[in-house]
Amino acid sequence: MAKLYINEKNKKGHINPEIYGHFSEHLGRCIYEGLYVKEDSGIPNVNGMRTDVVEALKELKVPVLRWPGGCFADEYHWMDGIGPKENRKKMINTHWGGVLEDNSFGTHEFFELCRQLGCKTYVNGNVGSGTVREMSEWMEYMTFDGVSPMADLRKENGHEEPFKVDYFGVGNENWGCGGNMTPEYYANLYRRYQTYVRDYKKDEPVRKICGGPNSDDTDWTGKVLATCFASPHPDKDFHGFMDGLSLHYYTTPGGWEEKGSATCFDEKVWYQTLYKALYMEELIRMHGAIMDSYDPEKKIGLIVDEWGTWFDVEPGTNPGFLYQQNTMRDALVAAVSLNIFNKHCDRVKMACIAQMVNVLQAVILTEGDKMLLTPTYHVFHMYRGHQDAELLDSELVDVPKAGREEYVVPSLKESVSMLKDGSILATIANLSIEESRDVELVFAERQPKEVKATILTEKMNACNTFDEPDKVKEAVFEDVTLTDRGVFFTIPACSVVSLKIC
Ligand code: AHR
Repeated sequence: MAKLYINEKNKKGHINPEIYGHFSEHLGRCIYEGLYVKEDSGIPNVNGMRTDVVEALKELKVPVLRWPGGCFADEYHWMDGIGPKENRKKMINTHWGGVLEDNSFGTHEFFELCRQLGCKTYVNGNVGSGTVREMSEWMEYMTFDGVSPMADLRKENGHEEPFKVDYFGVGNENWGCGGNMTPEYYANLYRRYQTYVRDYKKDEPVRKICGGPNSDDTDWTGKVLATCFASPHPDKDFHGFMDGLSLHYYTTPGGWEEKGSATCFDEKVWYQTLYKALYMEELIRMHGAIMDSYDPEKKIGLIVDEWGTWFDVEPGTNPGFLYQQNTMRDALVAAVSLNIFNKHCDRVKMACIAQMVNVLQAVILTEGDKMLLTPTYHVFHMYRGHQDAELLDSELVDVPKAGREEYVVPSLKESVSMLKDGSILATIANLSIEESRDVELVFAERQPKEVKATILTEKMNACNTFDEPDKVKEAVFEDVTLTDRGVFFTIPACSVVSLKIC
């Protein structure tokens, strides 16, 4: 029997709600159709935002939303997306599918969406093809609360009050689609551009995110931090002109050349995918170690603002739209990734799954006026209680490995936190597709009185379709019992369990 030891006296850090964040880009049907259908649509909407999607997302307690990209961010000129919609510039989305972008979703619409979701805002600026002035004026437009050319323009466009920008990203993937820069060149641009990302509200400073590495590119991390920390600074709290450094990592089973189908895969590819997803922990350690050498007090967050699975697009769909189905495999990738982020909450301060709707590892898929919740959605729902909780010391022992060939993974992965009301949330994934496992949760300090649990379990490639939208669904997990020392249950193969213990 596997044992999960939990020491509730040993709190390991605060789980920032933003770890459960999302990413939305002008890509395929994420913004248009997925989130925004325009005000005159037959699909029920509030100010253009589709009601069914917003209501479902509210259930997840979305903490933060990143926008407008991605690669799109470094081609985006914000002034094209303000003012009367009929006058907005129409352009070609060259990066994603070559389709018409009519800019009907712009700055005001983004803040309206976040208002409806009740989430924080993460705006990503353009370094690759934008100017310092453009970035600086965007901040002035969004956040200045006085008389100024940009604040006046915002008011003319119908928003008297300033918007609240919680996070601002200075460029995206500037090692690639954001300008193919060297780390030293980008870091110097970062220093310069971020200077003009002004804090107009001193009591609510915007947090600046510096463009970080792709996957295991430690050279980028090292050189960017070296350049940003290069000059001596009079402020003893100096932290390299940044509040966060981004990290992007996608789970692609056979690499970029062999991403494979989202739904048709065998057991070996199941384990290969999870093996690759677990690599996230190694990445956090690698980049975290470099960050520690500049920032031992961990003032700078590692911001994993793009993560998730990336498979071949669904047959017959635009290759530039990155539309893929979502199975139990995605659910397990989400479960282990979120457990890893929780366990590294001392350094990981935000993570945004890519992407929110209809793109890559989406939590929601839409088709016309229909909508479905993916297996990944259910995992986010089962884990939402971790937001703002305290990570607890926990350790799994007597856990056999599972796998095929070189893709060997631990069969169980977990994280445990204490919520504000003193109850405990344990989330556990069984990565094995063959074996169920007996598990006992053993508490150092508590005799549990009550446990409520839910489970997500199905065949490995089961997914929700518009014909069968509830095939994979969170269900009440009854077979959980209290023991002398804790809680006992048998976790089925290929499943995710969430237990709330009082
Ligand atoms: O999420 C899709 C794309 O992946 C983003 O636009 C880019 O930043 C990354 O390469």
